[in-house]
Amino acid sequence: MEHSVQEPVRIGFVGARFAANFHWDGLRRVYGVPVEIVGVTSQTADTRDAFAREKGIRAFDSFEELCAAVDVVDLCTPPSTHERLGIQALRAGKHVLIEKPFTGYFGAHVDGFDGSSFPKQQMLEEATSSCARLLDAARASGKRVCYAENWVYAPTIQKEREMLAKSGGQILWMLGEQSHSGSHSPYYGSWKFSGGGSLVGKGCHPLSAALYLKRAEGESRNGVPIRPATVSARTHDITRLPSYRDEGFLRAGYDDIEDYAQIHIKFSDGTVADIFSSELVLGGVHNWLEVICNNHRTRCNLNPTNALETFNPKEEILRDVYVTEKIGTKQGWSHPAPDEAWQHGYPQEFQDFMESIYYDREPRSGIELAADTIAAVYAGYLSAERGGAEVEVPLP
Ligand SMILES: NC(=O)c1ccc[n+]([C@@H]2O[C@H](COP(=O)([O-])OP(=O)(O)OC[C@H]3O[C@@H](n4cnc5c(N)ncnc54)[C@H](O)[C@@H]3O)[C@@H](O)[C@H]2O)c1
Repeated sequence: MEHSVQEPVRIGFVGARFAANFHWDGLRRVYGVPVEIVGVTSQTADTRDAFAREKGIRAFDSFEELCAAVDVVDLCTPPSTHERLGIQALRAGKHVLIEKPFTGYFGAHVDGFDGSSFPKQQMLEEATSSCARLLDAARASGKRVCYAENWVYAPTIQKEREMLAKSGGQILWMLGEQSHSGSHSPYYGSWKFSGGGSLVGKGCHPLSAALYLKRAEGESRNGVPIRPATVSARTHDITRLPSYRDEGFLRAGYDDIEDYAQIHIKFSDGTVADIFSSELVLGGVHNWLEVICNNHRTRCNLNPTNALETFNPKEEILRDVYVTEKIGTKQGWSHPAPDEAWQHGYPQEFQDFMESIYYDREPRSGIELAADTIAAVYAGYLSAERGGAEVEVPLP
């Protein structure tokens, strides 16, 4: 689409805490597309007003008022709200940015809901229905749904995508992980807000990246994405074990979610991926994906990277320096991130989202990848309930 008049893309935030802050930073780095961040609304008036004041934007009393004033609604809210708010925004004729996990199953209206013991077949059916409702709303509205999966945009993942396309390589096996010492969000830990634990909250990142690369392989070969066919998974609740000895370094006290997960994916062409995720890992975030092809092999290190290697003999020397996410201590050897947002793909993500809306094209991380990820995750929960048995991924 040609733009003779530089009408800005007007955006409004829903949610005003962690994700809203890095979305703000990412959107402020967008170039070549005029972007106006209009305002924010949130469930908690205090954080909403503080965010609005700090950023110099308007605080809206309600979602509806915010919607009416923008072209794009940016959902920085807990996963349990994504479907309802996303569909509401699409029906109001707005584009929508949806954070990971795209949607899921949260046990709304179930008395005494406990995510650990709730039947996973029903969860899988409900989660894929939730995706289908979002897909239908998106198609009916003709608006864009941008799936805020930053791993797709991480420079290491995009470089591998380029190597894959230009070398004509075939991915045989991927192996990856996202782990750290536990989420900061007070909503995380209750299935009714987060839709699960490590698998959906952290595993979704390397899983989406793996699904993205396999899609890209198929698309560059013959225009047809290669998609997940079956999964086998295990989940465990390590910090809830009676035998767990809490030394205070890991977040613990989760209500009904797992803190360790592994999922094995078999794609429609028979090739495979193995993804690990946990809340058990000290020493900063551990985010990486190894891609083993028939003609090359790549290790995508998102965090840590060794661009910088610093030895610090005393904690307080680096007191005022941000080192890397969830590092815990700054003493000794560390890998301070020169630009952590960039290595995680955040600015590139918002650049693509704004261009996709401005120029009316699909984002690299779109609704189909989002829905495939959720189908694979909840098929994984069903597999884990069955002790790791292979389960078909019901593709939307
Ligand atoms: N891509 C990433 O790296 C990344 C990192 C962290 C979080 N996230 C995702 O971002 C989303 C938000 O997580 P967070 O860490 O910012 O959570 P948070 O708890 O820090 O903030 C949630 C915000 O949403 C608001 N909120 C809650 N329910 C609401 C409702 N019904 N209507 C309006 N506002 C509501 C809260 O008041 C709060 O401002 C989640 O989906 C999470 O998985 C993504």
